[in-house]
Amino acid sequence: MRIGFKSFSLTVAAAAIAGAVGLSGFAKPADAAGKAVYPPEMEWSWTGPFGTFDRAAAQRGLQVYTQACAACHALSQMFYRNLTDLGYTEEQVKEFAAQFEVQDGPDEFGEMFFRPALPSDRFVSPFPNEQAARAANGGAYPPDLSLIVKNRALGFGSIGENFLAMLQIRGFSSGADYLHALLAEGYVDPPEGVELLPGQWYNTYMAGNAIAMPPPLYPDGVEYEDGTRATLSQQAYDVATFLAWAAEPRLEERKETGVKVLIFLALFTGILIAVKRRTWADVKKH
Ligand code: HEC
Repeated sequence: MRIGFKSFSLTVAAAAIAGAVGLSGFAKPADAAGKAVYPPEMEWSWTGPFGTFDRAAAQRGLQVYTQACAACHALSQMFYRNLTDLGYTEEQVKEFAAQFEVQDGPDEFGEMFFRPALPSDRFVSPFPNEQAARAANGGAYPPDLSLIVKNRALGFGSIGENFLAMLQIRGFSSGADYLHALLAEGYVDPPEGVELLPGQWYNTYMAGNAIAMPPPLYPDGVEYEDGTRATLSQQAYDVATFLAWAAEPRLEERKETGVKVLIFLALFTGILIAVKRRTWADVKKH
């Protein structure tokens, strides 16, 4: 079907309106008790026009995810081979992937079978489906963490959010701020008079303050391969860095392109000015 100009321009107009709505629609952090608690703003390595993901932190974050989160949370948008981007060699990625088992098949007898995961496989999910995940977690669903840093960024509509993330206004990083706060600072004793159901914990930063996730991190709960002290805040910072990379792995390339475009535009403007001067230089003489 041919898309006529009219329907195309309608689509563009609709997108523009959606963007404007997204920009203006600051959503408050949901809070059933009525007081909004914004996560404190952290320093992240990837902000600013030249910011990059701190590879050492992201590698430690992979360790935290694997040891402390992967039993409940999938990371299904990620392939093992993507890990070379964090500075691992192909050999290391192969070894890492081989620790996990994926179902494959059918073989020549029509049977499904398990084999060690390959770099070309997606991160193995802890549960085969949502029902199984809920059944194992008292009815609560541990969300896939592939895009969680984007999903929990302070509520701009999606187009507005991307725009602001591009400008490095708090958009994208606020999702990492949230994760850090939720994991490292959020679990506190409930204030007096707050009743929690069995299987719920009080968390300052969780929407409604009741979370069905037991505190997943504790000091020195992970022994870092690079010798970094695994304080609670360090682990939360590292896993948030890893998940920020997972949610936006092309961030650095996009920034690089942006910087190149700006340099090109600056040079090209210079050339245009020079050409203009030369062209008009003779004309003025006569
Ligand atoms: C024992 C299982 C379990 C482990 C381990 C676990 N989680 Fe969770 N997580 C859950 C469940 C269940 C929920 C859903 C909670 C709810 O809806 O109240 C959840 C929710 C979350 C959320 C969403 C909170 C929100 O805003 O809705 C994030 C983010 C999260 N977990 C991150 C992590 C990270 C990071 C780790 C590892 C450091 C981790 N979890 C370890 C079970 C777990």
